[in-house]
Amino acid sequence: MLMTETKCDIKDINLAEQGKNNIEWALKDMPVLRQIQKRFIEEKPFKGLKLSACVHITKETAALCTVMKAGGADAVLVASNPLSTQDDVAAALVKYWEIPVYGVAGESTETYRNHIKTAIDHAPNIIIDDGCDLVSTIYETKPELASHLIGSTEETTTGIIRLQALEAQGVMRAPAVGVNTSLTKHLYDNRYGTGQSALDGVMRAANILFAGKTLVVSGYGWCGKGIAMRAKAMGANVIVCEVDPLKALEAAMEGYRVMKISEAVKEGDIFLTVTGDKHVIDVPDLLNMKDGAFVGNVGHFDWEVNVAGLKEHTTDIKRIRPTLDEFKLDNGKSVYVLAEGRLVNLVSAEGHPASVMDMSFANQALGIEFLVKNQGKLENKLYTLPYEVDVKIAELKLKSMGISIDSLTEDQEKYLNSWKLD
Ligand code: ADE
Repeated sequence: MLMTETKCDIKDINLAEQGKNNIEWALKDMPVLRQIQKRFIEEKPFKGLKLSACVHITKETAALCTVMKAGGADAVLVASNPLSTQDDVAAALVKYWEIPVYGVAGESTETYRNHIKTAIDHAPNIIIDDGCDLVSTIYETKPELASHLIGSTEETTTGIIRLQALEAQGVMRAPAVGVNTSLTKHLYDNRYGTGQSALDGVMRAANILFAGKTLVVSGYGWCGKGIAMRAKAMGANVIVCEVDPLKALEAAMEGYRVMKISEAVKEGDIFLTVTGDKHVIDVPDLLNMKDGAFVGNVGHFDWEVNVAGLKEHTTDIKRIRPTLDEFKLDNGKSVYVLAEGRLVNLVSAEGHPASVMDMSFANQALGIEFLVKNQGKLENKLYTLPYEVDVKIAELKLKSMGISIDSLTEDQEKYLNSWKLD
């Protein structure tokens, strides 16, 4: 029995002490978010508003939720992935911050969906979404609830693609802010965050050495760039697979080998997908891999690698370590699947470190404030936060890092604004 009045579905309230330490640890490395929190405590911009957040339940997300609550929001948090929940963090949010949390690491798809329904039953005025499952479920099942909705923010590239489809089909009933589009989100979180946390996930799952291995990354967006860059720095030979000629060219000019996945499977030791698409590594590719290859995904959904299809060619699945399964194939080879094909950085490791989530979640907090401040003035479409917000976040981050930069003199400014040569 839980010793708390706060409603929840979590693993174990007794984990709360460790979770509290972790949340406080994260907040120490989130100076921009702390600064926003200070202002929110004074201004209470979300007083009287109900917030439903559907985000990976990590110590960094917990920090964001405490900031939103400090700003007056009546917040509920549900998991945005069945495997990524940090159970200690969930317990701490319930026990010490009295925030209802619904998420248990390893929950079934049915439980995951029920938790999203709970977030909808909260009748939110504002939504923080990660992957668009919460918003799309509202439009699919209870569109009338959108009448309460001031707007939503979306964390990921995948979620923004889904919102663009909603907007194009005229289904959107409230404005949304695509946080991923902010420069202080995708240039840092996607590149340096994913670059580090994806390799961290592979290391914690399998404890393998990158030096001398061939790592194949499918997708050369900002996440793929980060993974390639960090793997190369650790001594891996990097191969990039792409469908976009411009990105493929960029990867080639960066010095990576670029080829089709059907060729890359013959060479790769470790495969990571970050495309946002489905079956990027399909069954024939998986069957053609070298014996003992490692396969993982860092994209939002678990169908980038066709793990379900691979099961049909598998004679046995052996759990080697907590997030590492050996698939023994009917062709006599083995493939090691990381984190069941779900986000390896969040399932096998802890996601991106707090220092980079600081900027992503500053964008989230300011994105919600933007929607609330502009209530009634926005159209039901996807917005990007103004460039000045990016600049402010970057300035605060630089300050917290003890870095000062030059500014333009009046004369330089005048020169840059002039078209004459003198
Ligand atoms: N996505 C990637 N890393 C994350 C983190 N630490 N918290 C929440 N969402 C994330």
